[in-house]
Parts: sequence; C-alpha cells; structure tokens
Amino acid sequence: DLPTVELSTGTLIPQLGLGVWQADDADTEHAVQFAIGAAGYRHIDTAAAYGNEAAVGRGIVTSGVDRSEVFVTTKLWNADHGRDRAHAAIDASLARLGLDHVDLYLIHWPLQNTDRLIETWRAMAEIRDVGKASAIGVSNFEPHHLDTIVDATGEVPAVNQVELHPRLGQTAVREYCTSRGIAVEAWSPLGGSGAGWGADSSPNTLLTDPTLTRIGERYDRSAAQVMVRWHLQNGVIAIPKSVHDKRIAQNIDVLDFELDTDDLAAIAALDTGERVGAHPDALDLGARE
Ligand code: A2P
Repeated sequence: DLPTVELSTGTLIPQLGLGVWQADDADTEHAVQFAIGAAGYRHIDTAAAYGNEAAVGRGIVTSGVDRSEVFVTTKLWNADHGRDRAHAAIDASLARLGLDHVDLYLIHWPLQNTDRLIETWRAMAEIRDVGKASAIGVSNFEPHHLDTIVDATGEVPAVNQVELHPRLGQTAVREYCTSRGIAVEAWSPLGGSGAGWGADSSPNTLLTDPTLTRIGERYDRSAAQVMVRWHLQNGVIAIPKSVHDKRIAQNIDVLDFELDTDDLAAIAALDTGERVGAHPDALDLGARE
C-alpha cells in the first residue's frame, strides 16, 4: 500500500502523487487516467496556473476510480490574492475540475505585501470552512512568510510545498515545518524538467547523476526511483511529474526497497543549494498583483 502522511487536520495524504506541471491537456488527461486507473496513484497535484485542471478532472472520471478515493490538490495563482479574488478563484478551479471540493488548496506563491498575503490566508480558511477545500496550505513559503500568516491569524497551514530534491535539500524549511506540524511537499522532486519558471533553465542532470545511478544499481532501480525513495524515507510528500506510462509506473514502484544510511549520506552530500525555480524572496510578485 502507498504510504500516507497525516495532516494536522487528521486527513491522510498519499505520500506519493502525480505532478502535471507543463503537461498539455491531452497528456494530462491520459497521465491522470493511467496513473489512477492503472498504476495505483491516488493523489494528483495541479494548479490553476498549469492550465490543465479540466483535463485533470476528465482523467479522474475516465480512470474509473471513485473520486472519493483520490486526493486532489490545486493552487491559487498570484493574480488571485485578496479575499474576493480568492473566493472567485476556488470557484473557477472547482468548475474546471468538475469537483465540489478539493482535498487541498494551496497559495501558490507568497507575496511580499504582507497585508494582502494575510487577507488571502484568511480567505483560504473561509474556503475550507465552507467545505470547498478539506485542507489548506501554502507553497514556496520561507519561514518568515509562515510566521507572518500564522502570527496574524493563528491558522497553521497543513502543508508547505517547496522546491526540494537532492540538490536543494531545504533543511531549514523542513526543520521549521516539522517542528510546527506542517507537512512538507516536494515540487520538482526529481530535479525538474530543465525548463524552469522564474530562474535560468539548465538541464536536469540529477536523472543521470553518477551517485544516484550507482546507488540505484545496487537495488536494480533508476536514479529517479532512488530520488522518490529518498523523499519517502525523509517523510516528505513527493509529486514527480511524467506524462509517460512507463515512467509514471516506475516512479511508484519504490515500495519494496530501502535506502540505507550510507545511501542517505551520499545523497545528502549532493545538496549544493542549486534551484531550478526562483527563490521566493527574489520574486517581485507585487508587480503581478
Ligand atoms: P516526462 O513527463 O517527459 O517523463 P519533476 O522533478 O518536476 O517531477 O520533473 C521530472 C522530469 O523528469 C519531467 O520532465 C519528466 O518528463 C521526467 N521524468 C519523470 N519521471 C522520470 C523517470 N522515471 N525517468 C526519467 N525521466 C523522468
């Protein structure tokens, strides 16, 4: 069975999900259908900004698996901060997804405008309280962003989804979140596609990294599978993206081997702090409001 993490709300989230960033409608619908209907996934991570929520909704329906068995996450985009916009944004996402609620709704990126950020976070709690999201959380939040919204509202996010892979171990963010009961999710858990947002693009060399490849050979596994396993053993929720059946199946075929302490130490040594996306504090999201 897929391991789960218990959110502060008591909800269980499958620790492994399918990511669909940069997947077009046809690829997304097929990937979601295959992942749920054939490969055993029960968790899909999308966002309004990905432009493929409707395709995610169709893929869930055509998978043949009951919606109640699938954990669905979507995210509020940067242009939708503020109370009224946030309420309109969740309604639009639900309409596109064809769902009456999501399991998790995240603020996609923080704003440096703290008043507006707090206003959005209060609206997220309202959205949860009316049942349109079972749990609420954030993405790309540094500890100071978390302090800002928690100090103002007393409302602790269930989740913080951040860029996290062997090259960006996010030790400080993980320790901060763990000590406060905030589950950590990894985006670009395999090091990304090589085509980033908000930062320079560079090819993903983690998928062919010699250390990860060598570790994988000992278990007859790929570097990608070693990375997924690393996230799971760290207690992190990982959402690897692929639109290819073989890779979708490969990325969830990680439940029957275990990295040892030497493996974990060798992977920890790959943490150079390099990002594939923007640092949350380097983005001028105010300009996008
Ligand atoms: P594709 O969809 O063409 O398979 P991320 O780290 O953001 O999850 O990105 C993973 C990237 O690596 C995606 O671009 C995906 O592309 C590719 N990928 C996903 N799974 C595997 C795998 N098991 N082996 C090789 N490449 C993979």
